[in-house]
Amino acid sequence: MSEKKRSSFTGSIGFVLAAAGSAVGLGNIWRFPYLAAKDNGGLFLLCYLVLVVTFGFALLTTEIAIGRKTKQSPLTAYSKINKKMGGIGSIATLVPVIILPYYCCIGGWVLKYFFTFLTGQGQVAATDGYFTSYISEQWQPIIWFVVYLVITSLTVFCGVNKGIEKMSKILMPILLILIMGISIYSLTLSYTDASGVTRTGLEGLKIYIIPNFSDITIKDFFVTLMDAMGQLFFSISVAMGIMVAYGSYVADDTNLIKSINQIEIFDTVVAFLAGLMIVPSVYVFMGTEGMSAGPGLMFVSLPKIFNAMGEFGEIIGALFFLMVIFAAITSSVSIMEPIVASFMDRFHLSRKKAVIIVTVYALVFGTLICLGYNLLYFEVKLPNGSVGQLLDVFDYISNNILMPIVAILTCILIGWVAKPKTIIDEVTKNGEKFRRKNLYIVMIKFLAPVLLFALLLQALGVF
Ligand code: PHE
Repeated sequence: MSEKKRSSFTGSIGFVLAAAGSAVGLGNIWRFPYLAAKDNGGLFLLCYLVLVVTFGFALLTTEIAIGRKTKQSPLTAYSKINKKMGGIGSIATLVPVIILPYYCCIGGWVLKYFFTFLTGQGQVAATDGYFTSYISEQWQPIIWFVVYLVITSLTVFCGVNKGIEKMSKILMPILLILIMGISIYSLTLSYTDASGVTRTGLEGLKIYIIPNFSDITIKDFFVTLMDAMGQLFFSISVAMGIMVAYGSYVADDTNLIKSINQIEIFDTVVAFLAGLMIVPSVYVFMGTEGMSAGPGLMFVSLPKIFNAMGEFGEIIGALFFLMVIFAAITSSVSIMEPIVASFMDRFHLSRKKAVIIVTVYALVFGTLICLGYNLLYFEVKLPNGSVGQLLDVFDYISNNILMPIVAILTCILIGWVAKPKTIIDEVTKNGEKFRRKNLYIVMIKFLAPVLLFALLLQALGVF
C-alpha cells in the first residue's frame, strides 16, 4: 500500500480494539481450552501466562513497532529494516494464506451450531457423536463454510470500516459477560457417571488452575511448554504479518507499550475465561480421559452443558455461538485483509478483484478441508507425533513450521542485525518509559530464538 492511501486508526482505542478483535478469536475460545485440557490444565496455564508477559510481549512489541516505524505492509516492511532480510515478509504473508481456508471452515461449524441452537435443536447437538456425524456429512459443512466465507469476504470488500469496529465495541463486552456467566455456571456442575463416580465443577477448576507436578515427566513438561508457545503465536496474531500491518496504521503519538499491554490483557482474559468455561465441564461430564478430545472439544462438550441448563440453555447456547461467530469474524477479516492488500499492491488490482481472487482461492481449499472429514478422509501422522486430518495438516504447516521460522528470522533481524535499539527507539520516541527494556533485549536476542528453535525442532519430530 502506498503511503498516500494509507489509512490510520482514529486513536489508540481504535487500534487496541482492532488488534484485540484480530487477536480474540477461535484461538481463544476453541483452541486454548482444548490444549489446556489435553495438557492437564494448570501447568499449561502457568507456562502460557509466563510466556505472554515475556515472549509474547517481546514479539508483539517488535511487530507493531516494525509496522509503525516503516509504515509498510508486511510484504515490504522487513526489507525496509534490512534489505537482505526482506524475504521474511514473503513467508509472513504466506501464513494467513494457509490459515484462511481452514479458519473459515471452522467458522462454518460455528454458524451451524448457532442455527442449531437458534432453532431449538440444542438437545440434538448434545447427543453423543453429533459433531463427528455432522462433519462427516458431505454437503452441509461446505454450505455453512461458504456462508461464513462470504460474510468475511463482504466485510473485507467494504473495507474494515466503522461498522465492524463499532460492532466489536458492542459485541466484545457482551461476549465477556456471557463467558463469565457460563463459566460460573460450569463450576456449579456435578455429574455421576455410569460407574457411580461423581465429579464436580470445582474439582475441574482445580485441575484447570493448579499445576500438578507430581507425575510430570520432562517430556510432558516440554510438550506443554511448546503447546503453550505455539498457541501464543496463533492467539496474539504474530508471526504472520498482521500486527506489522496494524502497526503501520498506528499514529506516531500513540503509546505503544500501553496499547500492547491492553491487547495482551484482553486476549489472555478471554482465553482464560474460555478455558474456565470449558475445562471443568469437560472434566465433569467426561473425566480426565475426555480431556484429550482435541479440536472437537467446544463442539462436543459445550452443547452438553447447555443441554444441562434446561430450556434456558437453548438461548444461552445460541447467544454463545453468536458471540463466537463475531469473535471469529473480526479475526478472519484480519486474516483476509493483508492478503487482499498485498494482491492490490503487487498486481495493482482493485479491491473488488483482489477480494474475488482470494475468495475463490479460499473456496477451493476450504472445500477440500471440509471434504477432509468424509470424501477425502485420511489419518496422517504428523512429524510432531500427532495424528490428524487435512485441517490439522494446514494448521501444522502454518502454526508449527512457518510461524516459528518467521519469528526466528524476526528475532535474528532485530536482535542481531538491526539491533534491539531500532525497536526500543520506536516505542519510546514520545518519551514513554519502557520498563521491560532489559527483559526485551534478553528475550529478542537469546531466549526467544532458542525457545523458537526448540519449537521448530519439536514440530519437525527431532525430539
Ligand atoms: N488470533 C486469532 C485467534 O485467536 C486467529 C488469527 C490468526 C487471527 C491469524 C488473525 C490471524 O483466533
